[in-house]
Amino acid sequence: MKQRIFSGIQPSGDLHLGNYLGAIKQWVGLQDEYESIFCVVDLHAITVSQDPAVLRRKTLEIAKTYIASGIDPAKASLFVQSHVPEHAELCWLLNTIARNGDLTKMTQFKDKSGFDIEAEGSESVSAQSFKERFNSVGVGLFDYPILMAADILLYDTQVVPVGDDQLQHVELARTLARRFNERFGETFRVPQSRVMEEGARIMGLDDPTRKMSKSAESQYNAIALSDDAETVRRKIKKAVTDSGSEIVYQDDKPALKNLINISTLLSGMPIHDIESKYQGKGYGDFKSDLAETIIAFLTPFQERIASLSDEETLRILREGAERVRPIATAKLNEAKGKMGFLI
Ligand code: TYM
Repeated sequence: MKQRIFSGIQPSGDLHLGNYLGAIKQWVGLQDEYESIFCVVDLHAITVSQDPAVLRRKTLEIAKTYIASGIDPAKASLFVQSHVPEHAELCWLLNTIARNGDLTKMTQFKDKSGFDIEAEGSESVSAQSFKERFNSVGVGLFDYPILMAADILLYDTQVVPVGDDQLQHVELARTLARRFNERFGETFRVPQSRVMEEGARIMGLDDPTRKMSKSAESQYNAIALSDDAETVRRKIKKAVTDSGSEIVYQDDKPALKNLINISTLLSGMPIHDIESKYQGKGYGDFKSDLAETIIAFLTPFQERIASLSDEETLRILREGAERVRPIATAKLNEAKGKMGFLI
């Protein structure tokens, strides 16, 4: 029996190299070894303001990205979260065992809402501004990690391959599984997370102290998977570097380390070989080769995306939902039965 993996991406913002290297690339490598379920988490995407036409387009775009990256719908189940309503229903059940304190510490919530309950009472936040912010934050954004826990727990997931910004959320899924099992009897499997060593946290090109992000303000933060060759060259040229000129992979050179991580993951060339190749050369040579490495990856990838029709993609997604739904229904009914619902 193969172990089961589950992961997902939100159809919001532009997918970037961080999403590919931190998540999708590892999924491709795992699909032979694991029973794989990959979801386009559209219910998560509406926790921030969204345009219906954009949501529709992005949902298909993410699915096409999965397929163009090498995820094979014959091996892995690909589906849209809202096509399996059990996700939202289990989220509600889990809401009743989760505590506010589980959620207020979530880094992603703090980042997206700009609201940090732990800062209450600190000199920098007046009571008035705290209350105003609290009142304006969306309930869905706060509850987001519970829906993610539902995604994972519905399928008895063993392994959740993600970038390291999602570890805290997977940890919550583990906590909720244990809490539910203690209260109502053994129901949910406690999942493990899995991150890639070098791709787990691809940093912003404009600021190596912050992760590359879909919602970054500067266009120079991320290489989008849809960027054309000229844009890639411009962004890599502008990418910040550290002091010095040697191409070395060191913790005290975080900007360079990040660029070398991108290079090794896309080219397959070991880090040590990259360092040797550029011995005696400077950042200029390394950066212009890196831009070409990225372009050599993106160009055929974008061609594959363009060759996938909306109809064919939707067919694959519907088929995927049909395949996984019985698993979700059975698990949801098991949980409801344990909680005392009439089934
Ligand atoms: P999302 O859509 O923000 O990101 C999708 C995946 O990309 C990874 N990632 C990164 N990896 C490395 N470096 C980066 N700079 C970087 N930025 C993003 C994320 O870690 C993630 O793996 N809540 C999730 C989606 C989700 C989910 C799930 C994931 C919903 N339900 C169930 C796993 C299992 C999210 O917002 O990912």
